[in-house]
Amino acid sequence: MRILITGASGLLGVNLALETTRRHKVFGTVNQHSLKTDAFSVVQIDLLAPGAVERLLDQTQPDWVIHCAALANLDACEANPLLAQKLNTHLPHILAKHVARSGARLIHLSTDSVFDGQQGDYSEDDAPAPLSVYSRTKLEGEMAVRQAYPEAIVARVNLYGWSLTGNRSLAEFFFYNLSRGEPVMGFTDVFFCPLLANHLANIFIKMLEKKLSGLYHVVSPECLSKYEFGQQIAQRFKLDGKLIKPASVSQSGLKAARSPNLTLRSDKLRLALGETLPRQSTGIAELFALYQQGYPQKLRTLQMQ
Ligand SMILES: NC(=O)c1ccc[n+]([C@@H]2O[C@H](COP(=O)([O-])OP(=O)(O)OC[C@H]3O[C@@H](n4cnc5c(N)ncnc54)[C@H](OP(=O)(O)O)[C@@H]3O)[C@@H](O)[C@H]2O)c1
Repeated sequence: MRILITGASGLLGVNLALETTRRHKVFGTVNQHSLKTDAFSVVQIDLLAPGAVERLLDQTQPDWVIHCAALANLDACEANPLLAQKLNTHLPHILAKHVARSGARLIHLSTDSVFDGQQGDYSEDDAPAPLSVYSRTKLEGEMAVRQAYPEAIVARVNLYGWSLTGNRSLAEFFFYNLSRGEPVMGFTDVFFCPLLANHLANIFIKMLEKKLSGLYHVVSPECLSKYEFGQQIAQRFKLDGKLIKPASVSQSGLKAARSPNLTLRSDKLRLALGETLPRQSTGIAELFALYQQGYPQKLRTLQMQ
């Protein structure tokens, strides 16, 4: 298949591109970052430029599109709500409209944080209640995609993994700080169900092959606190878990509001795929295996600026 991945310089996009390129022809878009790789075709494009989406689809002629490009930094969204709206709501709408017309299948990436985190254990039928500019614009993006292309998949995720810059995921935060012997806070009152970005690649391919459509929670069946996640990273990488100080998110001084309990149910996807999604020990073991294979360094060498 010809797969177009937008946001291939981001945490999710780069891992999806590297995983899927073994069996497919992959095009990955970048904007401000440059990438140098023979593994997939890199397309440098500002997707907000007039006519950019049409040009990109014309140039790459994809069978499948996985739309990862976004303004995914919560504080950047608070600082620039207009840009957040353009990238997280308007762009997905335009993209979905054009992908629908082209007949390609689409996965649009959304987030667990469309919920306010008061209840937890959310299913796809629960009503979202976004707390921040990021979550609100992502929820509006979901709605815009579903309206423009009802057959598209909207995937609410939470993820970690190795990134180009080494600072895009919570796993990297714990790994690099603990490796330097730096103490860090681990929130005991924020819960999530993250998956490894590399595992998401296989899951997305199966969802596309099965021709699924509609809204799915694509998360691990095993949920945990951010503190517990840090402890599992420390244990697997043989780092000092005592450096992670149990803390409340209320002590964090973070600008954008965070939802405390983002535990999501993924039964709908488990039933559709006929398999259970990876548990935390599986994801963290693969994160470690990638580290042993020199994957983080390999990612750094792809980066040109
Ligand atoms: N990370 C998470 O834990 C998480 C959790 C829930 C949901 N998600 C969702 O998953 C998706 C991927 O997230 P991520 O963490 O991989 O994001 P990321 O690391 O911040 O990457 C964002 C990507 O968007 C691209 N981009 C931004 N503005 C663009 C523009 N004007 N034109 C073209 N490309 C542009 C960036 O390109 P340049 O860097 O080259 O400019 C980058 O490749 C997003 O939809 C996000 O909302 C992520």
